Amino acid sequence: MTSRRRAPSANGPKTPARQILPDSPPPQQSPLTSPEELKITVSSSKWLKVLSLSSLLLLPYAYLLFFHLKIDAEIKRSILINAALSFAGFLFTLRLIPVASRYVIRRNLFGFDINKKGTPQGKIKVPESLGIVVGIVFLVVAILFQHFNFTSDSLWLVEYNAALASICFMILLGFVDDVLDVPWRVKLVLPFIAALPLLMAYAGHTTVVIPKPLIPYVGLEVLDLGWIYKLYMVLLTVFCTNSINIHAGINGLEVGQTVVIASAILIHNVMQIGAATDNSENQQAHAFSIYLVQPLLATSLALLSYNWYPSSVFVGDTYTYFAGMTMAVVGILGHYSETLIIFFIPQVLNFILSLPQLAKIIPCPRHRLPSFDPQTGLLTGTWDGTLVNFSLKFCGSMSEQSLCIFLLALQAIACGFCFLLRWLLAGWPKHFQIEYMKFSKDDEVVASSISPNT
Ligand code: UD1
Ligand code: MG
Repeated sequence: MTSRRRAPSANGPKTPARQILPDSPPPQQSPLTSPEELKITVSSSKWLKVLSLSSLLLLPYAYLLFFHLKIDAEIKRSILINAALSFAGFLFTLRLIPVASRYVIRRNLFGFDINKKGTPQGKIKVPESLGIVVGIVFLVVAILFQHFNFTSDSLWLVEYNAALASICFMILLGFVDDVLDVPWRVKLVLPFIAALPLLMAYAGHTTVVIPKPLIPYVGLEVLDLGWIYKLYMVLLTVFCTNSINIHAGINGLEVGQTVVIASAILIHNVMQIGAATDNSENQQAHAFSIYLVQPLLATSLALLSYNWYPSSVFVGDTYTYFAGMTMAVVGILGHYSETLIIFFIPQVLNFILSLPQLAKIIPCPRHRLPSFDPQTGLLTGTWDGTLVNFSLKFCGSMSEQSLCIFLLALQAIACGFCFLLRWLLAGWPKHFQIEYMKFSKDDEVVASSISPNT
């Protein structure tokens, strides 16, 4: 949200030391004041970093898809078409962000980089809410993809369109939040509203598969949760959207965490498709997830190129809500929400650390960021309950870029831990496959009503 337009009391009492006061006069010498002066480009060093990160994350996925696993030819074709469209989306996003930046600055939608306060960079108006570009390009790619993959009688089409409606609704509400700067209590309920299309269209099962080691204790292989499952769906969307939004405030962190989790989701999906023997509902569910996550990853990488340290643009709540909602939706419709929650371990930790301030047990300032020393250029942890501050307290002061890399490495470790845990609990891939086949049999109506081509 713009620094000028924020309501001072919107999100709790303020800490004078670390934040931009909404009504404070604009800085005396802002190096970039007019939109026409704004030249947003990606430096070669940023390119190199984003390229290294994306290769590191995408190579395992490509290896599994092309060499290691036997993937059904039809599904592979759809994945490749989707990948080509996503790449086009990447190029479009890259091209559109500088253009959109000039427009948002013209409408006073900008922020100041709090972690550079006291330096010339801290006085630059950084275009805000560029998540809107990512969201729009994502939707265009996802809609165009329907032409290649679905027929009018495809049962998946209903859920696919419901998923897109929820994501679109979330982008709208995120942008509303960026423009109006709604209070924290309202922020919490926005995903409830956006999840409605998905909730209404959801016709899938409401069961969960009990992990193998727990079956003797629970006495069931599959547990039907009924309406509780739908409540769980809503809570998951609220958690995913808000948890990405509050694990933020460091250049590159909002998009970086999404890129890491999205890559882990892709690896998980392709492993599950490879593990299934026939063109089952399970395979279709994971392919469905890939069709939405590939465009999310591609467009996010384009945004990361501009948002990496030092950020030329900010992503806004438009992006954090959009990314969280997309991952929640694919987790729900792909039937792997438990796995998704483990991918989100850093966000869960950050949420637990935040609880006393979110519940207003202790005061919650507008920005809960570390303190920046302009002399050394280092960030030091404060007592605000966030994983960012906790990491700085634990590891000592560090630069913003090092902190971001550290937190992204932590995210990657959490995803790696999830794969290990799945393997230990479900004995993946052999045992999980058998479990799933049993489950499909129990749920014959759902399984048989899905056409292999959907
Ligand atoms: C959430 C966090 C808040 C954190 C903020 C950072 C909670 C309850 N709220 O609030 O503590 O400070 O995200 O996004 O945990 N900014 C930077 N550098 C960045 C990214 C953002 O300085 O790399 C600043 C800019 O001034 C930008 C503003 O944060 O304009 C965006 O804040 P916003 O996303 O509106 O904050 P919230 O999501 O409400
Ligand atoms: Mg935010």
